[in-house]
Amino acid sequence: MLNIENLHAAYGPVEALHGITMQVQPGSIVGVLGANGSGKTTLFKAIAGLVRVTEGSAAFNGVVLTNQSAQAIVKQGVSLVPQGRMLFPEMTVLENLEMGAYLLNDRTEFAKRLDAVQTMFPILKERTHQMVALMSGGEQQMLAIGRALMGQPDLILLDEPSIGLAPKIFDQILATAKAINARRQTTIVIAEQNVRKILKIVDHAYVLESGKIAISGTAEQLAGDESIRRAYLGL
Ligand SMILES: Nc1ncnc2c1ncn2[C@@H]1O[C@H](COP(=O)(O)OP(=O)(O)O)[C@@H](O)[C@H]1O
Ligand SMILES: [Mg+2]
Repeated sequence: MLNIENLHAAYGPVEALHGITMQVQPGSIVGVLGANGSGKTTLFKAIAGLVRVTEGSAAFNGVVLTNQSAQAIVKQGVSLVPQGRMLFPEMTVLENLEMGAYLLNDRTEFAKRLDAVQTMFPILKERTHQMVALMSGGEQQMLAIGRALMGQPDLILLDEPSIGLAPKIFDQILATAKAINARRQTTIVIAEQNVRKILKIVDHAYVLESGKIAISGTAEQLAGDESIRRAYLGL
């Protein structure tokens, strides 16, 4: 389970997260909702060891991640699919997938994981040797998720996958997230502004506002309460 306690994070002298506490149960899908600038990406980066934590902690399966290197956190089974995908556009699909398995030295295991990713995303098999810059946004998002899967994570932090995608393509990405969750009980946390669709697939959601949790609850509780819908969700 992911256990975040009073997490504060800062960029230089400026604090961006002001004490986030949240629990994510193993095998669940959880939403982190909130407007632009509310702290979703910073929260993910703080968990993944990519931004400075100034107070509090994040722990996964009882191991404290805070103050470990980003690489050590990946080894604990935590994979970030960053906002904007952060692929290597001049490299091929295969080379990008290899990046997701750079900690792995076992060729048989590599082939097995590659096969699983290509089965989940047949387009990535078709495009194995294509340069990433030539692919559509949806294909690139699939590749970013595929790259994370190559590390065989127990927890995936999926940061704003909808950006730049047509609604239908985003629906496919969400369906894939559900399939990944179902296949290996992989825990998934999704940051999104697209509240309506997220509440349909998550068990639980947290709404961030200015670096703090404004409200949280099950998807049913949040979507079912008229005043919450109006005040926090824009629904
Ligand atoms: N690299 C950075 N340097 C300084 N401030 C940043 C940086 N990235 C984000 N911030 C600030 O941190 C706050 C949270 O931003 P962010 O986590 O990106 O929000 P979200 O992902 O919800 O849009 C914002 O006030 C933003 O301006
Ligand atoms: Mg963001």
